[in-house]
Amino acid sequence: MKISIKTEHFAILQKLQKIRKPIEARSLSEKLKIPYEKLMSGAIFSLEQVGLAKFQEEELELITLTKEAKSYLNLGLPERQIFNMLGKNDRKEVKLLDFAKEIEEKLNFQKRLFFVGISKMKKNRWILSSKSMGYEQIFINKESPEKTEEEQVLDLFKDKISYSLSEIPKKLREAINSIYNRKLVKKNKRILRLVELTPKGKIITKEELQLIDEEINLISSEMLKDGSWKKNLSNLKNYEVNALGPNITAGKYHPLTIIINEVREVFHSMGFEEIKGPIVEEAFYNFDCLFQPQDHPAREMQDTFYLKNPAEGKLPKKKIVEVIKNTHENGGTTGSTGWGYKWSEEIAKKMLLRTHTTATTIRRLSHITKKTKLPMKVFCVDRVFRNESEDRTHLAQFMQIDGIVIGENLTLSDLIGQLVEFYKRMGFDKVVTRPGFFPYTEPSMEVSVYSKKLGAWLEMGGSGMFRPEVTYAWGVKDPVRVLAWGLGLERLAMLKLKRNDIRDLYQSPIKWLREVSY
Ligand code: PHE
Repeated sequence: MKISIKTEHFAILQKLQKIRKPIEARSLSEKLKIPYEKLMSGAIFSLEQVGLAKFQEEELELITLTKEAKSYLNLGLPERQIFNMLGKNDRKEVKLLDFAKEIEEKLNFQKRLFFVGISKMKKNRWILSSKSMGYEQIFINKESPEKTEEEQVLDLFKDKISYSLSEIPKKLREAINSIYNRKLVKKNKRILRLVELTPKGKIITKEELQLIDEEINLISSEMLKDGSWKKNLSNLKNYEVNALGPNITAGKYHPLTIIINEVREVFHSMGFEEIKGPIVEEAFYNFDCLFQPQDHPAREMQDTFYLKNPAEGKLPKKKIVEVIKNTHENGGTTGSTGWGYKWSEEIAKKMLLRTHTTATTIRRLSHITKKTKLPMKVFCVDRVFRNESEDRTHLAQFMQIDGIVIGENLTLSDLIGQLVEFYKRMGFDKVVTRPGFFPYTEPSMEVSVYSKKLGAWLEMGGSGMFRPEVTYAWGVKDPVRVLAWGLGLERLAMLKLKRNDIRDLYQSPIKWLREVSY
């Protein structure tokens, strides 16, 4: 059976046959004077459906000049402008500082720009300098120097306002980097659609096609009554049963939300209940209850965001505060010697953004009573804050997965069992624990999982059994013990979502978000 296409689409097919190579959809739409959307969803879509055309998406980095660089287009880069000034009236040498003033007056270049120019001129060996007179003098070293690679790059922009990297001649690519570092060019991401005919589309002729002026995609009751539908059989639009539905870009869950929900499901399936706690915490719950001494480095300003308003929070009942104080100072009744310093209520009252969700599990522990049914298993997956500079693997705001199990005669093997089971249900077969250290657990373990894709072990977080210094205050004593852990969420998410920049999870590259399914 002949392939049928609309006559107007055939005209476009012929144009594409002439063009031969892939063409950018936008320039095609300009060439044909057909609006872009109409071209893509009409002709190209239909030709694609019948296997005559295809299109690819390509993410391109477009390089354009900054405003500063545009002002150099006609006059030349600062080094060239300054060099031209230097050579005026057959001058061969000049005192650097006098020259700076001259340039400031004549070219209106600020000192900074002047010195950038001078250093470039030296690097290009257009000039030499000497301090033998007790001040810096510069001399012309080349009479009329050839254009540097940076200048050649600039010249490219006289013909066209933007280039993709692949359009830049290979020998100038390095110069692009240096000119980028000079803030003379910007790089912008753009998605290009390249339209191209399939091998079949390239050679198909009019005779092999069924051209239809108007396609009938709905048979009306009139057509049925007067029988005209029979006459138009060849104009009936065919069903394309293999066609994929359109890519739905409507609202959907964010990939990170999906993973958070998966974490929740896994813990629920293991018999845990979810708990929530305040993001704005007292240092008391974030640090003191966890037996972190008040001069602990993690409490310092560079790690913890302290609040100005309210700067002070509330502490629980006096009796409890007294127990925590004693624990820190001398160990209290826990059998420990404590840290041996003077504990301050003021420091414990400070308000902060919680630095770990262990603040929330400890709050839950603090509500335990004699009536609480054991074992008790709770988890918390939520946001935490640390004053870190952001990069590929760090954010100042991220998520943690904390959990505790309170029960009689629990052991380290139970803890390992819970962690291994959690990661197994999350899709990671291999888990390893190594000795670690936290002020609030003994023994403590670091937890790593194996990523098949990366062929490496990746550290996921910490865990351990809460020390008596942490549990006694709430009446939790041997043989009742508390297993605890605090795991990173984003690293797990990055592995599962195959992203290698943590910022992708929060700053949302739109192309990726459109592609990921529910
Ligand atoms: N709170 C620790 C962290 O943020 C992790 C941890 C939680 C360790 C519970 C032991 C027990 O890294």
